[in-house]
Amino acid sequence: MTRINLTVDGDKVADDVEPRMLLVQYLREKLGKTGTVIGCDTSNCGACTVHLDGTSVKSCNVLAVQADGAEVTTIEGLAQDGELHQVQESFRECHGLQCGFCTPGMIMQSIDLLKNNPKPSEQEIRVGLEGNLCRCTGYHNIVKSVQHAAAQGGAQ
Ligand code: FES
Ligand code: FES
Repeated sequence: MTRINLTVDGDKVADDVEPRMLLVQYLREKLGKTGTVIGCDTSNCGACTVHLDGTSVKSCNVLAVQADGAEVTTIEGLAQDGELHQVQESFRECHGLQCGFCTPGMIMQSIDLLKNNPKPSEQEIRVGLEGNLCRCTGYHNIVKSVQHAAAQGGAQ
């Protein structure tokens, strides 16, 4: 077992974990953060995307021990004082989801995209989200959601 200390959604946590434990497993199984989901076993779908020190990562592709000392934000840490994050609100307003399985990862990736490029073109949005798969929407409303969020002030 290896001792890790990190901050998750604003809360400091300390745990002993097996060195092989994935960050996504740690979040879901140890912390109960089941808003971060697992959609594949090949690092392809992006459903498990979280922010590690402010940058989006696929949490199935990171070991929990690699997050030692880091700040992790999941979809469950976005809303503040009962108010949805702007990007969450935009996905709701623009119907950027159907079954919702890809949505946590899409939103976390969209925030990272908008942080780096506050006014992305449609093409830049599509490229920025290419690591996140959606089986339902055909992506059009997801792109609209990100455009709407950009128009509203982006990743803030
Ligand atoms: S569960 Fe991480 S990329 Fe699919
Ligand atoms: S809304 Fe169902 S997978 Fe994207």
